[in-house]
Amino acid sequence: MASERLGMAALAWMALCLAAAFAVDRSNFKTCEQSSFCKRQRSVKPGSSPYRALLESLQLSQDSMKLQLVNEVNKVPLLLELYGLQGNMTRIKINELSPLRPRYEVPDVLVHDPPTTWLAVTGRDENSVELSLGDSGHKLILTGKPFRMDLLQGRELVLSVNPRGLLHFEHLRHRKDSFSDKVSSSVGSLWDKIKSLFYREEPKESAPEDGAAGEETEPALPGDQESSEKSTKSEEVSDGPNRAEEELGSWEETFKTHTDSKPNGPTSVGLDFSLPGFEHVYGIPEHADNLRLRTTEGGDPYRLYNLDVFQYELYNPMALYGSVPLLLAHNTQRTLGIFWLNAAETWVDISSNTAGKTLFGKMLDYMQGGGETPQTDVRWMSESGIIDVFLLLGPAPTDVFRQYTALTGTQALPPLFAMAYHQSRWNYNDEEDVAAVDDGFDTHDIPCDVIWLDIEHTDGKRYFTWDPNKFPQPRNMLGRLAAKRRKMVSIVDPHIKVDSGYRVHNEIRSRGFYVKTKDGSDYEGWCWPGSSGYPDFTNPEMRAWWASMFSYDQYEASMENLYVWNDMNEPSVFNGPEVTMYKDALHEGGWEHRDLHNLYGFYVQMATAQGLEQRSGGLERPFVLSRAFFAGSQRYGAVWTGDNAAEWDHLKISIPMCLSLALAGISFCGADVGGFFKSPDAELLVRWYQVGAYQPFYRAHAHLDTVRREPWLFGEENKALIRAAVRQRYALLPYWYTTFYHSYRSGQPVMRPLWVEYPDDVTTFSIDDQFLIGNALLVHPVTEQGAHGVQVYLPGKGEVWYDVHSHQKHHAPQTLYVPVIMSSIPAYQRGGSIVPRKERVRRSSDCMYRDPYTLYVALSPQGTAEGDLFIDDGHTYNFESKAQYLHRHFSFASNTLTARSADSKGVFESPAWIERVVILGAGKPAAVFLRQPGMADTRLDFQHEPETSVLTLRKPGINIGADWSISLR
Ligand SMILES: *[C@@H]1O[C@H](CO)[C@@H](O)[C@H](O)[C@H]1NC(C)=O
Repeated sequence: MASERLGMAALAWMALCLAAAFAVDRSNFKTCEQSSFCKRQRSVKPGSSPYRALLESLQLSQDSMKLQLVNEVNKVPLLLELYGLQGNMTRIKINELSPLRPRYEVPDVLVHDPPTTWLAVTGRDENSVELSLGDSGHKLILTGKPFRMDLLQGRELVLSVNPRGLLHFEHLRHRKDSFSDKVSSSVGSLWDKIKSLFYREEPKESAPEDGAAGEETEPALPGDQESSEKSTKSEEVSDGPNRAEEELGSWEETFKTHTDSKPNGPTSVGLDFSLPGFEHVYGIPEHADNLRLRTTEGGDPYRLYNLDVFQYELYNPMALYGSVPLLLAHNTQRTLGIFWLNAAETWVDISSNTAGKTLFGKMLDYMQGGGETPQTDVRWMSESGIIDVFLLLGPAPTDVFRQYTALTGTQALPPLFAMAYHQSRWNYNDEEDVAAVDDGFDTHDIPCDVIWLDIEHTDGKRYFTWDPNKFPQPRNMLGRLAAKRRKMVSIVDPHIKVDSGYRVHNEIRSRGFYVKTKDGSDYEGWCWPGSSGYPDFTNPEMRAWWASMFSYDQYEASMENLYVWNDMNEPSVFNGPEVTMYKDALHEGGWEHRDLHNLYGFYVQMATAQGLEQRSGGLERPFVLSRAFFAGSQRYGAVWTGDNAAEWDHLKISIPMCLSLALAGISFCGADVGGFFKSPDAELLVRWYQVGAYQPFYRAHAHLDTVRREPWLFGEENKALIRAAVRQRYALLPYWYTTFYHSYRSGQPVMRPLWVEYPDDVTTFSIDDQFLIGNALLVHPVTEQGAHGVQVYLPGKGEVWYDVHSHQKHHAPQTLYVPVIMSSIPAYQRGGSIVPRKERVRRSSDCMYRDPYTLYVALSPQGTAEGDLFIDDGHTYNFESKAQYLHRHFSFASNTLTARSADSKGVFESPAWIERVVILGAGKPAAVFLRQPGMADTRLDFQHEPETSVLTLRKPGINIGADWSISLR
């Protein structure tokens, strides 16, 4: 990283960061105990809730129910809103009835206002109300005192809200201690100044005239003396936890050398849910942990707070780069989801009444009939904002995915090249280096679609520029790649070098687009370029400007085959608290960074994707990789699991990490192949290429200080192994593309845990060393050093699976011991599926566009199979705007394979044809005939291997868009 342009201070920071070699410095990151709101929330113990629902305040409209909740201790009234949503969803919002100023409600994550369904009161007594939620058969029983809600289907209790009484809503209040009195005048005037910076109009009035509990209606400013006095009334009584304890960190909080000024005081919200009958919960990425979430009793809760964690550790609940506050629960009867729409720092506690019980203990309970129903309890705690929670009631896994993606959007359909192999490194040093790596893939006959440039390609870490010495002719370089039908990705990070000679900085500053400090000046932090500003991506005008920077005339030398990567967008601030931004920094609208921290990276990727879309006049699909993310990020591109390490455990954990993301809507996930930090040995590197070949986003990447590791640097044998893995990926691109298309259309994950397809097989519920791609391929890659075999679980009662390499048939369910050698990537095709492949692998995916298809028909025990194939131009939105696509459906039954259109809307001419049909599990026919509409039957050549029951039909020679059938007679 020796760059003469780097400031000494920046160098010092980097040295500091790199000094703590190969283990996270946990002391850089807060525990719940060190996060004052988490500590306050957690100090609320289960018991009778101090909240009472005022049933007499209930107001019912066609699609919503509103009523007041009051905390009987401090008398502060809350407003509860309940909506029945179409498709078996319920939304619960809890806010203050009359907050001193508006509380943050997460914008831009929901794709639209979710359509509601009817609500009706269907029963009532003095302490409860029963509501019916639309036609779904779900009922909700709301109990007044203590407040709780129970959601039922028929007589079955599905889920309870506030059953343990942990609802804890810290209302906005005035500071009343002497310190604030002393500084009130100066703080007050400062606040006026900040307000004038952000509010173009008057701040919205939030409090109605008849604000209950004597709260004043003026939006209050910190230190406003008059209102401080008025509010003491509600301050005198204790607010649940011990008063002195509650004050701790409420108005100011120091962590290490950083002080958070907390001008709004304590603002946290918390609520608990019980899930009777559930023992398995999943989701709430991102954590480096197992797929199945652990109970958090006796340790820290899972934390959701987007952070740049240097050298992250595995198998713990610490926060990482991104956050999706969606938790799924699954049992053999039902899958459900809890989506907690809050972008502030959030902690999630999970407890269970069966945790710690041995299987034998549980069995004993069961046999003695005295066992309680297993139950999981979940508690959410967020630092600010409101409670806005969606209950996704399933009942099947597919329903929950549909429900969640109806709210937050489905995975964007990536351009085809983005699903192919990517070669990255921090850094490819100069244009000659790029050319040599590019040529290397051809010399060594390994497919590759994209070469990546990290931060060193810029002129002194000034994004949107090129280093004039190392990259003097970027256009030539891009043109050279384009000639080989390859792409390039360059990094554009959201920290902007503070440098009056840098146009990007000057424009952002002069437009007032930087995030501000609490005092109203432009916030500056340290990052790669040294002192940096952070554009306020929450501001739509800023995002529009940022997007415009990607137009070909703004981003110097950019071309159609240049795509973008957003790193460090948590945001990472080397000298900030927990390596991120101050929570009291200010965004557009006067919101604190605290309110929206977890949304920052989402907005960076959104604005960048919009830029790439706009530069082509809205024609081309963008590709943007992001490290930080939030709910809904799936709409803008891919994510990766950040700065992992070249260690076997990191390879292994890439599976549950991407599976958790996929369950939470983000299918386009990958881990740095080879591991970012440290240097892998050949065995680990080869295994990583094999795992990556079957994960959605497939990119090799490496730290600046690691030794070079292009695939041909490890000897002929390892090169051949890597080549074979990458070629497996390319051959399956038609299947990947079709599976992504389904994900885009229906919200189903691309990479799936087994239980998603086998929801009533409990054996699958904790499996996370193997996974499915779509519903047809099961992969159990080797993730152990020196492995001689793996135990593969093949699910499905009465089903069969075929080894994709040997075509050997296996009956299910069974756990199969599979001996492995270095070339093994155990993978199985489900009997009953049809998988399209392209087996003439070339230099890049684009070079394979016209190539013919091979269909792999894997017969079920009943002799049937089904599958499909989606084709379009691979890179534009024409599939959507002009219905220019082919969606083919294939089915095999009664010894006949039939191809027809799966969707009559799509029209597209593909030059590709079918060169081969391979039928797994077939007997030997006497003859095979091809039939096409209006034509005489023609005989097809075939070959049958009796040992494996593989029937290969050669050269049907039919265009992929044609209707036809092939019968075995
Ligand atoms: C809603 O839930 C009911 C009961 O679980 C189920 O039968 C129905 O199919 C679901 N409807 C939708 C649209 O998911």
